[in-house]
Amino acid sequence: MTTEYPDDTKQSQIPQRAPGGTAKRVLIVYYSQSGDVHRALEALVRPLEMRDVEITWRRIDSAPAYPFPWRAREFFDCMPEAVSGEPPALAQLDLDATERFDLILIGWQVWFLSPSLPIQAFFATRHAEVMRGTRVITVTCCRQMWQRAQAKMRALIAAAGGIHTDSIVVTHQGSALLTYITAPRIMLTGRRDKIAFLPAGGVARTEIDKLGRFGSRLLEAADRWAEATPTPLLTGLRTATVNVASLLPELIGVGCMMVFARLARLCGGPGNLIRLPVIWLFVLLLMLLLPIVLTISAVLTPVLKRVLTRRLARYAQVV
Ligand SMILES: Cc1cc2nc3c(=O)[nH]c(=O)nc-3n(C[C@H](O)[C@H](O)[C@H](O)COP(=O)(O)O)c2cc1C
Repeated sequence: MTTEYPDDTKQSQIPQRAPGGTAKRVLIVYYSQSGDVHRALEALVRPLEMRDVEITWRRIDSAPAYPFPWRAREFFDCMPEAVSGEPPALAQLDLDATERFDLILIGWQVWFLSPSLPIQAFFATRHAEVMRGTRVITVTCCRQMWQRAQAKMRALIAAAGGIHTDSIVVTHQGSALLTYITAPRIMLTGRRDKIAFLPAGGVARTEIDKLGRFGSRLLEAADRWAEATPTPLLTGLRTATVNVASLLPELIGVGCMMVFARLARLCGGPGNLIRLPVIWLFVLLLMLLLPIVLTISAVLTPVLKRVLTRRLARYAQVV
């Protein structure tokens, strides 16, 4: 695994195990289906596990749990609730909201340009109050489109009283275009291996291995975890990259999903047969619009890149 500071001088600044055992406490709350988010968190916190840090892992789930791999109908049928922020119940969770931690990591993924429903379910409970007054760092895995979901996540953390200082975003390997095939392939079949012209799907192992640099920085900055006015700890480490080619499809996707989510909700809740035609109409529109939107985006991207490069680089520093 690559660490950001392999030289001895920097390592010596990292706190060693205190004789009295005054360990810093980190809480990791996460949800993961195919394992991307879990693997990312494991790699990130590995440097912390080697030092005087007590790590509490809590894997959350919804009740009932979402299937994996998905059936197409169930997959698209969760769009309305994801977009309109109406999550299911949270499965039993062993977490005392009054317990205090020095740092909280939230591992989450994007579903339909929104935080996934199990993560939204967590924020809808009192458990989320565990974040009150505590520094929160988010670790997101997704295909490529995360900006709107990120904004929603920031709002959820703020509403729970958490202090969100850093966001790490890890996207799927391969070209943006091919991830439109590899990502659904994982979700609908559970398979992520390379076949024919398709690259392997999901987050690349090499990308996961590089996440240890964030854990190393967190260790190095351990004295700052509890600073009175928390400021970002991961500055300069390239925590996220904004893919300009995804901006226009995301913008159009958001509008489209909001309309269909509202229509579907008017017809009933998840699994309701009456809303099924609306869901399949949404899928049809998605299939028809995708090639058009991607073509327009391919034409406009070089211009957008020139206009937005600096602004997006600044944005990626503060997401
Ligand atoms: C129902 C569903 C909807 C998704 N929607 C998006 C999306 O809007 N944007 C995106 O970039 N990825 C989307 N994804 C892809 C996941 O965010 C991605 O596969 C992530 O790596 C999953 O992590 P996990 O397997 O650890 O849960 C979606 C996945 C699912 C299951």
